[in-house]
Amino acid sequence: MKVPYGYAAPLDGVSDNYLRVFRTRRDELRARMTALPLDRDNYDLEIGCGHGHFLAAYAEAHPGRYCLGVDVAGARLERARRKTDRAGLDNITWIQAEALLLLENLPAGIAFSRVFILFPDPWPKRRHHKHRLVQPRFLELLSSVCRPEAMLYFRSDNRDYTARTREALSTSPFWDLVSGEAWPWERATVFQELASGYQSLVGRKKTTGWLNPGN
Ligand SMILES: C[S@@+](CC[C@H](N)C(=O)[O-])C[C@H]1O[C@@H](n2cnc3c(N)ncnc32)[C@H](O)[C@@H]1O
Repeated sequence: MKVPYGYAAPLDGVSDNYLRVFRTRRDELRARMTALPLDRDNYDLEIGCGHGHFLAAYAEAHPGRYCLGVDVAGARLERARRKTDRAGLDNITWIQAEALLLLENLPAGIAFSRVFILFPDPWPKRRHHKHRLVQPRFLELLSSVCRPEAMLYFRSDNRDYTARTREALSTSPFWDLVSGEAWPWERATVFQELASGYQSLVGRKKTTGWLNPGN
């Protein structure tokens, strides 16, 4: 069985080879993350950052905040990295990883204040909805690596995905759906420029609920 890059799949019943490759990648990811700065007040995350248009410009506009961009696609991240190297930014790191695997293995001492999910893969067919990033399990895991009252900014051009994310946020024990909250900053992403329209949602992490003992 081919092992997708950094895929945080359940590991029951997989071959020894699959397990070996999975563990090697997980350990490499953990090793890379030891270089991340810890104990920063303003730590922001973009999941599925693609070519980094949004986060590179955001980091440049917010030198007092630290930014982490994650995407599974290495070639896209290479372009993102070239952009921020050229600009000489020292408040941003790009990491190639599957988002859940990254969140599950994030070093203690990192707690995000703002999380951006911009035009996540829509998986439009009903039988593929299980592959969508934003699910109750994801919202729980994400909340465990966020500060109390951290903000989640979600944007999509897929109405069904937005509706389901709205429902997941409004019924979540870990997040509140917030209405009328302005986004802290705007920069159109590649997919935003291609979309004929889109919807945005804002969530705020509840102050109660389960917290990662590491944070
Ligand atoms: C539709 S693109 C949007 C890219 C960018 N946010 C934009 O708006 O232009 C979705 C991105 O999410 C990445 N992605 C999909 N699933 C992911 C996952 N589980 N973990 C990390 N990145 C993921 C893809 O590689 C892709 O770059």
